[in-house]
Amino acid sequence: MAVSIIILAAGQGTRMRSTLPKVLHRLAGRPLLSHVITKARQLNPDQIIIVYGHGGETVPKAISEKDIIWVQQELQLGTGHAVAQALPYINQNSMILVLYGDVPLVGVETLQELLTVVGERRVGLVTVELSNPTGYGRIIRDKSGEVAKIVEEADANAAQREVREVNTGIMAIESHYLEQIIPKISNNNAQGEYYLTDTIEQTIIEGGRVTTVSVSDSIEVMGVNDRKQLAHLERTYQAREVTRLMQEGISFSDPERFDLRGELKAGQDIYIDVNVILEGQVVLGDNVKIGPNCYIRDTVLEAGVEVFANCVIEGAIVDTQARIGPFARIRPETVLSEKTHIGNFVEIKKSAIGKNSKINHLSYIGDATVGKEVNVGAGTITCNYDGANKHHTIIEDNAFIGSDTQLIAPVKIGVGATIGAGSTITRDTPPGELTLSRSSQQTRPKWKRPTKDKRN
Ligand code: UD1
Ligand code: CA
Repeated sequence: MAVSIIILAAGQGTRMRSTLPKVLHRLAGRPLLSHVITKARQLNPDQIIIVYGHGGETVPKAISEKDIIWVQQELQLGTGHAVAQALPYINQNSMILVLYGDVPLVGVETLQELLTVVGERRVGLVTVELSNPTGYGRIIRDKSGEVAKIVEEADANAAQREVREVNTGIMAIESHYLEQIIPKISNNNAQGEYYLTDTIEQTIIEGGRVTTVSVSDSIEVMGVNDRKQLAHLERTYQAREVTRLMQEGISFSDPERFDLRGELKAGQDIYIDVNVILEGQVVLGDNVKIGPNCYIRDTVLEAGVEVFANCVIEGAIVDTQARIGPFARIRPETVLSEKTHIGNFVEIKKSAIGKNSKINHLSYIGDATVGKEVNVGAGTITCNYDGANKHHTIIEDNAFIGSDTQLIAPVKIGVGATIGAGSTITRDTPPGELTLSRSSQQTRPKWKRPTKDKRN
């Protein structure tokens, strides 16, 4: 049977104390809701319907995913009411799976199991045993162990509150059945809400049976209600990712001081020091070493690259055995070839640097093409911006740029050219020659420093 997924994401999330809708708060660098969408897609559903409400259009606007049916629930009158808003859009004769925008670590295997065990005219529920079930709907079973109903905390009596098996909210139900039952749900309860959980009792009244799948790992079904829970999920998520990465051959000096906010493709024998953050799509080749306190986003570091402490690298491709840092900033669209050296306090933007070239100290290289075996002296600046437009600088192979040089773009430094220190280069320089622009040195004989005026 084809699967349609409804993700409930309309709730306010009062306890987050935030102007941002709860489902847009981030886990591992991505909105909670986008984690749920990723999980949903892994089940190959025919449709994904997201019920949004609190925060209005900010929610659909923040999620760039395609092929989503967005349905607005203007007033949040309960989970049953939320699902009712999605009903007009669901495919006929499908299995409906209800997920929650604030339950990001839901296990795909659990959902697959749920879809396998729930047959026609049956409802399937994911449940979990909690040592502290406070706040959750309790699963009430009859003498034969069949599920009879779910009682919400607010509606439960003392005996029912003792029950530790709780509703995770995740439910699968055949579409005909849902359409038949949802209109029969009332809001005659302690919270005055339309409870989706009431479909359970109604299913049984109408002769259906309820199947459950229970999860042993409660983190899978844990929702985010406040910032403390969000932080707990973040740490749990990170701990699992780092364990997986260690199993794949990466060493961490401290697995608790590493964050992955995206995807990492990694080779073997990689070493990562403390406080490293990898974000977006990162690729690390064999034997890459990353020093402490580095932030690396959407970047490829090929085999043997070494990044020293305190570097920020974004949107770069770095070829084998290049060395970066300490304290370097590599900005998007930078390509560093094999064995390049980028040293301390160097910023490189949108530039290609050729094999074996060195830019070791205090430089800004932007919008530049630098050839092979080039040496860029300390304090060199490509003046790429005239206040209105960006211009290109070309430094050809084997050039030597003396320290404290300004290259006023557009400009080209020829093959093997040498630029004298302290020059301001405004025109192309010939290959193989020394070019410099420098006012000549003077000494003023018998010059005296001024002295302080005694009256002051
Ligand atoms: C719900 C379940 C409870 C279960 C718990 C698990 C019901 C009645 N109760 O309770 O049995 O133990 O989840 O966490 O379903 N939402 C909407 N529109 C609404 C109301 C809620 O989209 O009008 C969304 C919320 O954004 C949230 C989810 O539904 O993602 C759950 O709503 P919430 O109010 O948190 O339900 P609980 O009281 O926690
Ligand atoms: Ca909740």
